[in-house]
Amino acid sequence: MIKPLSEMLAKAEKGGYAIGAFNTSNLEITLAIARAAAKLKAPIIIQTSESAIKYSNTTVIYNLIKNVAETVARKVPVAIHLDHGQDLSIIKECIKVGYNSVHIDASEKDFATNVRLSKKVRQLAKKSHVSVQSELGSILGKEGLVRLEKGEINMEELMTDPEQAKKFVKLTKVDALAIAVGTIHGRFVGLEKVDQERLKKIHSLVKIPLVLHGASGLPPKDLKEAVANGVSVVNIDTNLRLVFKKSLWKSMNQERNIIDPRAILTPSIVSVQAEVERIIKILGSANKA
Ligand code: G3H
Ligand code: 13P
Ligand code: ZN
Repeated sequence: MIKPLSEMLAKAEKGGYAIGAFNTSNLEITLAIARAAAKLKAPIIIQTSESAIKYSNTTVIYNLIKNVAETVARKVPVAIHLDHGQDLSIIKECIKVGYNSVHIDASEKDFATNVRLSKKVRQLAKKSHVSVQSELGSILGKEGLVRLEKGEINMEELMTDPEQAKKFVKLTKVDALAIAVGTIHGRFVGLEKVDQERLKKIHSLVKIPLVLHGASGLPPKDLKEAVANGVSVVNIDTNLRLVFKKSLWKSMNQERNIIDPRAILTPSIVSVQAEVERIIKILGSANKA
């Protein structure tokens, strides 16, 4: 069932566990996430990026997730979240259709602009009781990774500054903060290492839930330590894409005569569900619904 994210995160903070935020763009991945949450009785965040929204349409993907949340996952709390919102018109549309949380990602802008945009989104979201996540520091993506590998950038310089995070939260009054502490979006390459000391420092200064992005591929030990050090939400996308593709590849190649999309896609649903279950167990959110 759909629940306010603030309520879910307050429970997570008290209980010392984190909630998994999993990206979806279609029925199969949404079903897999919801089935995993229902099976393990875990609270869950189902999120869409702007490009996932563009793949279908805001209302279509929102209603699909809502429908699955209210049927397959009706006994567990589910929040529907916009991930990495950069376009104000998409953010506004998500608030209008019923998302209960939005991410304003102005992390590439200067501090003052990030503050201004975050405050603006908070104002827009307030009336509808929608939670707002902001981002401070640079969490690298694929392009950034190439530059990092070439030695053109220094990861530490991109990380969230704890004192600046405190100031940012005080100025914006947002509900959650995505922080850069050493993870990278996309495929795990081995250069990712959570700066646990920095995380602890941010957690001691910032009294709102912290979000760890780019968590795919991190060793379970590192993820557990990050949760113990103050992370309340863990974002996972790439892990799901990898197992989805692997199973699809196998089913397409094993049974070349099958043309029924349901038969072709069922193994992918099963593998994504297993991966979501694995992450939920690492985060400690099983049986917390
Ligand atoms: O952090 C970003 C997510 O993995 C979304 O990626 O824009 O390709 O949907 P996407
Ligand atoms: P990964 O694709 O590295 O898991 O990152 C997901 C994410 O941070 C979504 O916002
Ligand atoms: Zn992210």
